Amino acid sequence: MSFRFLAAIYTGDRKPNSRDTVCMSTMTYQGLDVLYSRQQIAERVAEMGAQITRDLNGEKLVMVGVLKGAAFFLVDLSRSIQADATFDFVAVSSYGQGQRSSGAVKVIKDLDQPIEGKNVLIVEDILDTGLTLAYLRKLFLQQHPKSLRIATLLDKPSRRIEKIDADYVGFSIPNLFVIGYGMDYAERYRNLPDICIMAPGQTA
Ligand code: IMP
Ligand code: MG
Repeated sequence: MSFRFLAAIYTGDRKPNSRDTVCMSTMTYQGLDVLYSRQQIAERVAEMGAQITRDLNGEKLVMVGVLKGAAFFLVDLSRSIQADATFDFVAVSSYGQGQRSSGAVKVIKDLDQPIEGKNVLIVEDILDTGLTLAYLRKLFLQQHPKSLRIATLLDKPSRRIEKIDADYVGFSIPNLFVIGYGMDYAERYRNLPDICIMAPGQTA
């Protein structure tokens, strides 16, 4: 099933910029409307990597990916960061098998290495209600990292429950359910190369 998507310009409480403009989707992939193409993602991720490199100022970095959704973003982002970087991963459960959050956050896989005294960058696919990142931030701060920053590819500010902002945001989007480039619906669609929109009730 394909559907036409029309949304107003969405900017949250920031000044609009070209990346915030979500207009009539013209591209489709396997019958799904494309919100951000693989090329748009690559360009934005490269910009984010350059910014993170500048902010690091020659220091080392530990990138902590939130499994599984952030996997694609982490590997692409890491190749745009010019620094001495290592990876770690955590897995949390906050979503069930659908489009709704259960509200509870639980660590399923913890960090492999201690982060005390390190520059840590949490890498997440989507900042939605903020429950996951607020929980992880609190957990990680207990280990006294030298610095703790957050990079998220997508941000849905209108959905926020916990007051939390990311230091690096790829794209700010309205309240849509998206799939692809690591993001799933009931564990499917992670391998779509573009970020696509899943309509309510749609299970293409
Ligand atoms: P939060 O705890 O509500 O901020 O959401 C955290 C997680 O929910 C994200 O990292 C995603 O894994 C998942 N999520 C939120 N919105 C979407 C979506 O539109 N598509 C796929 N996963 C989503
Ligand atoms: Mg995630």
